[in-house]
Amino acid sequence: MPNIVVVGAQWGDEGKGRIVDLIAEKVDVVVRYQGGSNAGHTIVTNGQTIILHHIPSGILREGKLSVIGNGVVIDPQIFLEEIERLRAAGYKVDEENLKLSDRAHVVMPYHKQVDIAREEKMGRNRIGTTGRGIGPVYEDKVARRGIKVGDLLHPESFSARLRAVLEERNLYLTRVLQKEPLEFEKIFEEYIRYGEQIKGFVTDTSKLLNDLIDKRKSILFEGAQGALLDVDFGTYPYVTSSSAGSGGACTGTGVGPTKIDMVLGVAKAYTTRVGEGPFPSEISGEIGEKLRESGGEYGSTTGRPRRCGWFDAVSLRYSARVNGITAIALTKLDVLSKFNKIKICTAYKYRGEIIKDFPSHIEILKNCLPVYEEIDGWEKDLSDVKDIKDLPYQARAYIDRIQEATGVPIWIVSLGASREKVIFLKDNLL
Ligand code: IMP
Repeated sequence: MPNIVVVGAQWGDEGKGRIVDLIAEKVDVVVRYQGGSNAGHTIVTNGQTIILHHIPSGILREGKLSVIGNGVVIDPQIFLEEIERLRAAGYKVDEENLKLSDRAHVVMPYHKQVDIAREEKMGRNRIGTTGRGIGPVYEDKVARRGIKVGDLLHPESFSARLRAVLEERNLYLTRVLQKEPLEFEKIFEEYIRYGEQIKGFVTDTSKLLNDLIDKRKSILFEGAQGALLDVDFGTYPYVTSSSAGSGGACTGTGVGPTKIDMVLGVAKAYTTRVGEGPFPSEISGEIGEKLRESGGEYGSTTGRPRRCGWFDAVSLRYSARVNGITAIALTKLDVLSKFNKIKICTAYKYRGEIIKDFPSHIEILKNCLPVYEEIDGWEKDLSDVKDIKDLPYQARAYIDRIQEATGVPIWIVSLGASREKVIFLKDNLL
């Protein structure tokens, strides 16, 4: 069985959770490699809706090992609540099937404060973050003043480090952001307690994963957010602060690129985006509203309404290139059943010129207009479709056109939230 990366090919919320859940059945291990509680992976199983923030979607499959890699940032309170919620829903979550990297960085109270206060201060220029402290925690990681999961298990050295970091962070909070300083004792005690509660899950996950690969176990690397939110290749500065693309699978787990066989890009049959930033195929008005309502396009972490638009083949070609995507899982095709005409953005127009490559600078992207092709909709309910042959011909034409316009084969099409509402278009690629 190959090792596979599942990556969001758009701006997040593509339905990665349900695709990972589907493929998890066929692998031994699922590992999350970046992001943190800003992610909300929704899976509908046995009539229950489960939203996962840190824990890999593989946790819902019996007998699979779930691993949280070093590239993830952990908010211990949310992580522990997530475990409790899963247990209450009847899922096994214990030290045997869940492992957490000792190298993962920890979201501290000052990270959340800084995130929220900065967004307030930026006003109209805000990024539209999830307010979960994600930017500030990654910032501290790179600035070498971060706190790692492993630090919570060593009270003496943690105390000294937290004291030094907090002194600096409090200056920033009070002088720059005009907020109240935070108290050392309170944070120290709270986080030492978290350390006690999570220590059974903590290990050197890079060693664990490489040992498992040596034993011929197969691994699924689960990306969070999406390629267009990647800190290097996304629509900077309107991005998240981690490597949400496939490259993050290596740096965020300590597994080398020679061990990865395939990259599956997950893309919605249309496009959505939460937060600020350019979005050339965005639709405003009635049609955009209809897409949002039909697709239930509200953030699973923040509840914010998502911005909606038509499928953008330009950004998808780019995503496929920078992530080495070898196949696509196309989700939510059923949502388009409500439209009699459907558009695909196949190029952009910038200052009167047609461009086919996704611009690398935001100032150009901001001023790009979409060039559309219009195709007929199918206006039929797809909920009972079990085979490609049963799809209306217009839906098949839409899938074909997406494959052609992006240059990437579509392997999986999902037609609804629950596990069984999915069709495979090609022979099993795994
Ligand atoms: P942050 O990750 O909270 O710093 O937010 C930065 C940007 O990424 C904002 O536009 C968020 O809306 C977006 N973002 C973060 N996580 C997700 C996600 O899981 N799905 C979609 N957008 C996200």
